[in-house]
Amino acid sequence: MESTNFDTNKYQILSGKEASAHFKEEIRKEVEAFVAQGERAPHLAAILVGHDGGSETYVASKMKTCEEVGFKSSLIRYESDITEAELLKAIQTLNEDNELDGFIVQMPLPKHIDEQKVIEAVDPRKDVDGFHPENVGKMSIGLDTFVSATPLGIISLLKYYNISTRGKHCVVVGRSNIVGKPMANLLLYKGEQGDATVTVCHSRTPNIAEITKQADILIAAVGIPEYIKGDMVKNGVIVIDVGTTRIPDSSKKSGFRLSGDVKFDEVAPKASYITPVPGGVGPMTICSLMQNTLKAAKQRKK
Ligand code: GUN
Repeated sequence: MESTNFDTNKYQILSGKEASAHFKEEIRKEVEAFVAQGERAPHLAAILVGHDGGSETYVASKMKTCEEVGFKSSLIRYESDITEAELLKAIQTLNEDNELDGFIVQMPLPKHIDEQKVIEAVDPRKDVDGFHPENVGKMSIGLDTFVSATPLGIISLLKYYNISTRGKHCVVVGRSNIVGKPMANLLLYKGEQGDATVTVCHSRTPNIAEITKQADILIAAVGIPEYIKGDMVKNGVIVIDVGTTRIPDSSKKSGFRLSGDVKFDEVAPKASYITPVPGGVGPMTICSLMQNTLKAAKQRKK
């Protein structure tokens, strides 16, 4: 019988900050070698529509990381009243730009724009977000392609900390196209960070705690602050928290704090490993975007 008291395991933090610094240094060296061969530096562009606070921060962080690893970057901004047709035209221009290796359109977009149409307008060869159905399809059958940056970053984080998922029960909470679904898929790949038994839960799953309690590795990607409580996990669980909800907080200079999907104070004492928010999955996501862009640049050569 499981105790209802929280065990005080000494948990280890899975630092995305530390792991991403390692991977970024690898990318920087590869870019250096690439440029030394006479190639131009990889070039990533981001389209940012409107002024959503979260999107502003993410895109700024992506552009800054480009600089750190030696990429060229371009930020293309539009006001939120841009029409869908204008945005699709802008995407076409980027598709045809031979000086550009990859680009992203930061989501979410204003309600009058159909996100799926936008995703499908991006040339799959420049789709470094891995959102285009062609790339999603390839990923789902294990072909080499651009993989959505957050799940790819989580796999890299597990690899960095030598955490094997082989034969483990991985429970993914959340079924989004950009995190939950590709995450479940990657965990089914063969290999040390694959070979898992995967369960995907979501808002319509009854008795969700009964399932999350069975997780050896729990990936929380529901977007509900502190959704995973201490009594929803077993002792020794490995916890990956994908949540980054902004909570108003007048004690912070920015006026908000970031909250994960996991109630850290309750869950961490039961965990063997856990990601912090911020400084966990977030930096790994950006790192994977850089890896995808380098991949696009190398393919351009061929
Ligand atoms: N919005 C939240 N995450 C992402 C992402 O990975 N890529 C893009 N383009 N938009 C996002």
